[in-house]
Amino acid sequence: MQLAPFSLPQMATIFAISRCSGSAYQRAMVYLSRPQRFHSLSSLTSKSRFLKLNNLTRNYSFSSNASFIVADDEKYGNKQVISITPRLYNYILANVREPQILRQLREETAHMRGSQMQVSPDQAQLLAMLVQILGAERCIELGVYTGYSSLAIALALPESGCLVACERDARSLEVAKRYYELAGVSHKVIVKHGLAADVLKFIILNGETCSYDFAFVDAEKRMNQEYFELLLQLVRVGGVIVIDNVLWHGKVADPLVNDAKTVSIRNFNRNLMSDERVSISMVPIGDGMTICRKR
Ligand SMILES: C[S@@+](CC[C@H](N)C(=O)[O-])C[C@H]1O[C@@H](n2cnc3c(N)ncnc32)[C@H](O)[C@@H]1O
Repeated sequence: MQLAPFSLPQMATIFAISRCSGSAYQRAMVYLSRPQRFHSLSSLTSKSRFLKLNNLTRNYSFSSNASFIVADDEKYGNKQVISITPRLYNYILANVREPQILRQLREETAHMRGSQMQVSPDQAQLLAMLVQILGAERCIELGVYTGYSSLAIALALPESGCLVACERDARSLEVAKRYYELAGVSHKVIVKHGLAADVLKFIILNGETCSYDFAFVDAEKRMNQEYFELLLQLVRVGGVIVIDNVLWHGKVADPLVNDAKTVSIRNFNRNLMSDERVSISMVPIGDGMTICRKR
């Protein structure tokens, strides 16, 4: 963890804390590495500053398997939100009911180029859960890769259900198709090899507007706004559109990162915030997913 340089008053506070408790010192270092937090403390006396620091950072620890982020803004009541550490994430994964066939696909994909692109088992489980809660029959996925998320969706669909699965890369699509066969769900999956936006435009022209229950967007990130507009035409009222990678490894929240992909995801997130056509929920799972329900 990289720590920001501290000002003199900050150093004095850290020194005072270090004399009292070793772990409090560590926690204070983490806490004070966020300058905006120090500002809210700087008006306090040294003693009350120490007490407040110790209180706010009580659950912040390097050595344990869980730590907490404290909301910066006091209007959230210093809400503590859990921060996922590797050990805690292993625990979460150990509590995912991953079907054997998905595990097999994940392990085969792990040896392939781009394996980091597939959704995580906990994300796939959430997608499958949403499909089941919705009672979805007609689904669309943009960005199949080797099929991990699409297979999770297809497995959750009833026998009469269908998933339109769009992917531009023929080689990864071959792996996906093999697994649909192996899992016995190939009759539910309509594979579309091509550009996602073209496929969506085609099925709109085909008269399929407002006939889909669920869509999962995980293709070209800079196209998210266009995919979203097309999918809003295809999904029924009450239907759900899930967009992956909305946190983009945290870059969306870093004002110093302004590459084209980050800016487009940031703009998309901002547009969604004011889009009255949908209800939204941004979920910090995997690389961040936003769940949108069409109004
Ligand atoms: C993040 S991966 C998808 C991972 C997949 N959802 C999973 O869980 O395994 C993105 C995929 O989108 C595909 N893709 C990118 N741009 C596309 C486009 N314009 N049309 C169709 N597929 C696209 C890529 O080839 C890649 O396989």
